[in-house]
Amino acid sequence: MKETKKNELIKFIGDLDVKEQEIIYNILSKARKKGEISEFSIIHESLKTDLEDMMKQGFEFQELSSVKAPPLIKNYNDVEKFLLPQDYLPLPFSLDKILKSRRSKREYSGKPLSLRELSTLLYFSYGIRRYTSAYNTSKFPLRMAPSSGGLQSIELYLAANKVDELKKGIYHYNPIEHSLELIYEGNFRRKLVNLCVNQEFIHDSSAIIILSCVMERLLWKYKIRAYRYIHMDAGFVGENVYLTSTALKLGTCAIAGFFENELNNLLNIDGKNEFITLLMSVGKLQEKE
Ligand SMILES: Cc1cc2nc3c(=O)[nH]c(=O)nc-3n(C[C@H](O)[C@H](O)[C@H](O)COP(=O)(O)O)c2cc1C
Repeated sequence: MKETKKNELIKFIGDLDVKEQEIIYNILSKARKKGEISEFSIIHESLKTDLEDMMKQGFEFQELSSVKAPPLIKNYNDVEKFLLPQDYLPLPFSLDKILKSRRSKREYSGKPLSLRELSTLLYFSYGIRRYTSAYNTSKFPLRMAPSSGGLQSIELYLAANKVDELKKGIYHYNPIEHSLELIYEGNFRRKLVNLCVNQEFIHDSSAIIILSCVMERLLWKYKIRAYRYIHMDAGFVGENVYLTSTALKLGTCAIAGFFENELNNLLNIDGKNEFITLLMSVGKLQEKE
């Protein structure tokens, strides 16, 4: 498509209100279902940003020292908090072995995770490794996983099924305090199996890490291109979970097959500015005979 025509179309769609954009989306969806168009190529095309254009607008691809970023970390006040122990388990220094032995593991013994194991897993996957000056803030956190612009677009939640000393329930991970904030108490095993299209192996996991994406953390800087970056951010956190679990001899498996609206509703997130992108079951492995 010619560049001018494309720009006209982008401007046209950008000028529509949300309702009108939804109508266009529905028409495209119907056409896709009939096999008449490739929805993927339309979406992929529309998520391209004209980087030169952004540069002309004075956008700088550096750590912006004069600009404040939107809040990086969610906070649940007025809920019960569990401070996680900070005497982390040592991880073996044999990255080659860890990379070679990492596999998606779906068979769990059903034994509980210790609080130290869980704490170590969360800390090395997505904890705060140090603070620095950035985005006009002297105490800007740096996390264990890389993220676009360092803006930490991913939030972690945790369904605790069987963790020593921890009530069953759904928590939010607060990396600043290295704590878990109890959002809902209760046994969510069956509910999560059902929401993950009946993937039965989830039932025996000791914990399920739930990754959500928060769009506003990236949109102000990367505009629509943020929608590509945010999934990469999730991938980096996910791989950290895989590698740290492997180092701790725990089993984990990424799960992207789930009913989106229902899961977003369960966590009381809007599914637009913040939406779930991945779950990761974690469990003790069955001992080899
Ligand atoms: C984004 C993503 C989504 C996945 N979703 C599921 C899932 O819903 N259920 C499942 O059993 N495995 C899921 N997996 C695990 C893959 O099946 C697995 O990584 C793949 O078969 C390669 O095996 P390996 O991880 O042992 O190397 C997912 C993996 C990724 C990266």
